[in-house]
Amino acid sequence: MSFDIKQKLAIDGGEPAVRTPIPPRKRHGELEKRYLAEVIDSDTLFFFLGTKVREFESRFAALYGKKHCLACSSGTAAVHMAIGSLQLPPGSEVITSAITDMGSLTGILYQGLVPVFADVEPDTLNMDPTSVRKAVTPRTGAIVAVHHAGLAANLDELFAIGAEREVPVIEDCAQAYGCEYNGELVGRRGAISSFSLNHFKHISAGSGGMILTDDDRLRYIASLFLDKCYQREEGLRNPFFLAPNYQMTEMQGAVALAQLERLAEFTEKRSRLGERLSARLAKQEGISLQDIRPRCRSSYFLYLFKLDLDQLHCTTSEFANALNHEGVKAKANLITGGRPVYLYDIFQQRSAFPDSRYPFESRDLGVNRSYPPGICPVAEEAFSRWITVELLENYTEQNVDEISFAISKVAYHFSARLVTPHTR
Ligand SMILES: Cc1ncc(COP(=O)(O)O)c(C=O)c1O
Repeated sequence: MSFDIKQKLAIDGGEPAVRTPIPPRKRHGELEKRYLAEVIDSDTLFFFLGTKVREFESRFAALYGKKHCLACSSGTAAVHMAIGSLQLPPGSEVITSAITDMGSLTGILYQGLVPVFADVEPDTLNMDPTSVRKAVTPRTGAIVAVHHAGLAANLDELFAIGAEREVPVIEDCAQAYGCEYNGELVGRRGAISSFSLNHFKHISAGSGGMILTDDDRLRYIASLFLDKCYQREEGLRNPFFLAPNYQMTEMQGAVALAQLERLAEFTEKRSRLGERLSARLAKQEGISLQDIRPRCRSSYFLYLFKLDLDQLHCTTSEFANALNHEGVKAKANLITGGRPVYLYDIFQQRSAFPDSRYPFESRDLGVNRSYPPGICPVAEEAFSRWITVELLENYTEQNVDEISFAISKVAYHFSARLVTPHTR
């Protein structure tokens, strides 16, 4: 096929740029079936009596060189366990990113803690350390560093702030399997790190999650936190704090264990495809690529690029729509559905609990926190600039080359010279 970017856009009736079918995705197979059959045959679906969850935990901990891994029912549960095991008094503040999944926030709110949002860097969309530094107060209890879309947050800076202010840093690695910072896997530095096994992640057990830590005490509290504060390992049942049941079942454990066999293959492949796409788009006018710093490696949970609105006369929705017609799975809304997290109703209306503004406003806690538009301007502007493109391990190099062609073609047509009412 000829890659001539002047060809008519598919949205205008031209031939779509992506012509080679994307091979079907098949993440689960014989190993999952075997481990699941072993679980059913064992007649033990409960993690505490079975072997699969425990084996999964020790394999994942070993993979990351950490002392402890605890598996749980979701990535949301994992963040909640991480936060819960810090045992912060209600009303403490937790700093996290303005662009993340609600799962990073749920546990914070359930613990009666007050989210504080850091703005993002304009060239990575990860938490901006300058904004984090400004957000730290004597009430700060933790920083939840989110590695957004498979790219590492600026860990040196974030951990420096944590060390200076004696605030623990949790790494939310839900989107960041296989992602490297300074040549090292992310998830190894945090006091606790959390992961997700939901359907959309690099590996999946349908739902599921885990935490990593080297700290025996945090591991102990987290083990209670996921289990109603039953001291099951000691044979005791005398809960001394409020804790949910976030157990992972043996069936999830079986699938998660099998998925570990494929983790390196999936993350490697996605990194290579993303790097190939970036190499092809490096000189493309009208767009800027995400800034991937030296010795960092993205595992491309999503592939991101930014529109140069001085050159392209279109909105992100128009650009993404034109790409969809070219056969590219592109979106304009980032991962949050089109706005920073703090612009969700729950924060705007301060409605975490019915008929109450807790924990945003509480006389007992001495808290009155609101989240007016404008508090994180870079995050707010990101939605009118950034496009995300799906890039999965089943894609081929040919698919990537055609995606690159599609992006170049759409950028060319939306460049100042060629805007027509029709293409807009
Ligand atoms: C950064 C981040 N944190 C937490 C979560 C929550 O994970 P789960 O959906 O498994 O509850 C997600 C899920 O999308 C996520 O992307």
